[in-house]
Amino acid sequence: MVGFLGPNGAGKTTTLRMLTTLLKPTEGTARVAGFDVATQAQDVRRSIGYVSQAGSTFSSAIAGDEVMDHGMLYGMSRRDAERKGKELFEQLDLPGLWRRMPKNMSGGQKRRLDIAMGLIHEPNLVFLDEPTTGLDPQARANLWEHIAGLRARQGVTVFLTTHYLDEADHLADRIVIIDKGRIVASDTADNLKAQVSGDLVDLEISDAAQVAVAGEKLAAIATGVEVEGRHVRGRVQRAGRAVPGLLRDLDGHGVSLDSIEVLRPTLDDVFLTLTGRSLRDAEAGEASDGDQPDVLEGADR
Ligand SMILES: Nc1ncnc2c1ncn2[C@@H]1O[C@H](COP(=O)(O)OP(=O)(O)OP(=O)(O)O)[C@@H](O)[C@H]1O
Ligand SMILES: [Mg+2]
Repeated sequence: MVGFLGPNGAGKTTTLRMLTTLLKPTEGTARVAGFDVATQAQDVRRSIGYVSQAGSTFSSAIAGDEVMDHGMLYGMSRRDAERKGKELFEQLDLPGLWRRMPKNMSGGQKRRLDIAMGLIHEPNLVFLDEPTTGLDPQARANLWEHIAGLRARQGVTVFLTTHYLDEADHLADRIVIIDKGRIVASDTADNLKAQVSGDLVDLEISDAAQVAVAGEKLAAIATGVEVEGRHVRGRVQRAGRAVPGLLRDLDGHGVSLDSIEVLRPTLDDVFLTLTGRSLRDAEAGEASDGDQPDVLEGADR
């Protein structure tokens, strides 16, 4: 399970479209399931499933027909496609929607239908572009369980993009981070987080007049100390050991706190360390352009 992360416009979808042979790379090579994406595109397509960011169901088709057609295009018999399709509708919590048109489904239902379509032919390798965006928390948890199950039960390799860093953190075996078209990190979540120096300690000082002295005390054990209103923050190595001493020190100087928060490094901190920007700030920069249906481009059409 590989989690592919990066801010809007970083190049995640573009990478996935190259790996799934929908877009011809201008240079370089890539192999997917052992096949070269440029010279063995057919073999790559036979080996994978792909759920695009924008989805690929026809809005006025019958949902069940769409899913079955997709399975039959991959060589499944009608009977197998129907059995497997109905099983997926069950697992992805789409009861009673087999005969409904995608245009009459909710956003989250349509998303789960896209996923059923990408999985019906039981590929060993699936590319999922933001499968959980737009799903409610329960549907998200459900889908992750399903995806984790695919890997556990059938050994399916899953390559997915997500903007939910906590999801990627918990579920992906490997995290790949892309920024401005370049891979800036590729490792386990734990190893990446170990690169971030220290835990974030955030003190909320009761009296604004004492913020400066609290900042000085924190700076004695922390790096990158910053002040915002009555909050003083900094990164502290092994906060569990260092913070009790800090609290005694503050108390000794008559500084009282309204709150204190100690946060372990997150994947967002990893991104910040690598690029100097927060994934969340970077997100605000460019709007997603993922609402066009996915089509073949260039000579492969
Ligand atoms: N066909 C195209 N022609 C020109 N530029 C494109 C094309 N497709 C994408 N881009 C641009 O390439 C950049 C990367 O886009 P891409 O869709 O890969 O980003 P992304 O990482 O998937 O972002 P998001 O999180 O918003 O989905 C963006 O600046 C986008 O506008
Ligand atoms: Mg995208």
